Amino acid sequence: MEEKFTLPDTVGFDKEKNALVIIDQSQLPNKTEMLYLNTIEQVHRAIYLLKVRGAPAIGVAAGYGLYIAALDIETEDREEFDRKLALARDYLAGARPTAVNLGWAVKRMYAVVKNNPALSVEELKKKLYQEAVNIHEEDIAMCLKIGEYGLSLLKDEMGILTHCNAGWLATSKYGTALAPLHLGKERGMNFHVYADETRPILQGGRLTAYELAKHGIDVTVICDNMASQVMKNGWVQAVLVGADRIAANGDTANKIGTNGVAILAKYYGIPFYVLAPYSTVDLECADGSQIKIEQRPGSEVREMWYRESMITEEAKIFNPAFDVTPQELITAIITDKGIVYPPFKEGIAALKGDE
Ligand code: MRU
Repeated sequence: MEEKFTLPDTVGFDKEKNALVIIDQSQLPNKTEMLYLNTIEQVHRAIYLLKVRGAPAIGVAAGYGLYIAALDIETEDREEFDRKLALARDYLAGARPTAVNLGWAVKRMYAVVKNNPALSVEELKKKLYQEAVNIHEEDIAMCLKIGEYGLSLLKDEMGILTHCNAGWLATSKYGTALAPLHLGKERGMNFHVYADETRPILQGGRLTAYELAKHGIDVTVICDNMASQVMKNGWVQAVLVGADRIAANGDTANKIGTNGVAILAKYYGIPFYVLAPYSTVDLECADGSQIKIEQRPGSEVREMWYRESMITEEAKIFNPAFDVTPQELITAIITDKGIVYPPFKEGIAALKGDE
């Protein structure tokens, strides 16, 4: 009998309150607070402040966010409605630039508007709600498929290193990089996970450790500069990470520090796997040099988790939220459509053909 693990839904929608419901991830692990957001400005702010974060979860939140924007447009005139919703789409897409899922989700929502010119505003709002639900439900199914493919590459008792949080909290359920670990645990397998703390927002220390420990998975948090030591000690047999955008050639943007982990994995001969839904692939982006990297405020580095500022105001801060791992450091990209091995350009294009 499989033991089912569950956490509160990372993202959901309350139909009675017409509100996007999220766990406020900025307060985890000390406080589990659900936030009810019913304006597009609130959704935009929650995404920017990483209250809802992780590429797929941002996509799901954005789908419901655009529906909320649609509800707030008080007109029966289709032309006016379409114009106002396009403004809302562009506003929401600007909340964070790197994760492909944000732009992808609002574009997909707006396609409903474009593809149904004959519908009344009221009928269109119903269709938009259905599309947001579809994005949400598809995300759960994708995570489960990624989990199955990922699990096929792992063995019981393996040591796994992960960076940031690409888990249950970053998606609708299960996660991408952490999905094989949750599925494996449900089937009685054991893994020993090293979670990089992930400066400066501590997604690994605060979120990955929380969700794995809640599921009874053995997890050890390390500071980011300790990864080479645990690899050298022979404690890591595979690295699993998520992705915010995968270029057509396989170059992958993910949380800052991922590239460094990939370089270490190559040095120590450890397989480095990227796990993401196929919707994270951006075929319009030829390679990693075209991926826009989000820059965040220096206060996140200088003082965010400290009682007082830890860095003199005279020093500048460089705080990119993501980096790009070149495709030659990646062993395989595990998607919901299958596993892609190098050469990635051909493999990624072939999966597109399967659609
Ligand atoms: O800044 P964040 O916390 O949104 O960054 C998240 C990551 O980099 C994740 O690894 C990525 O979005 C994949 S989540 C399944």
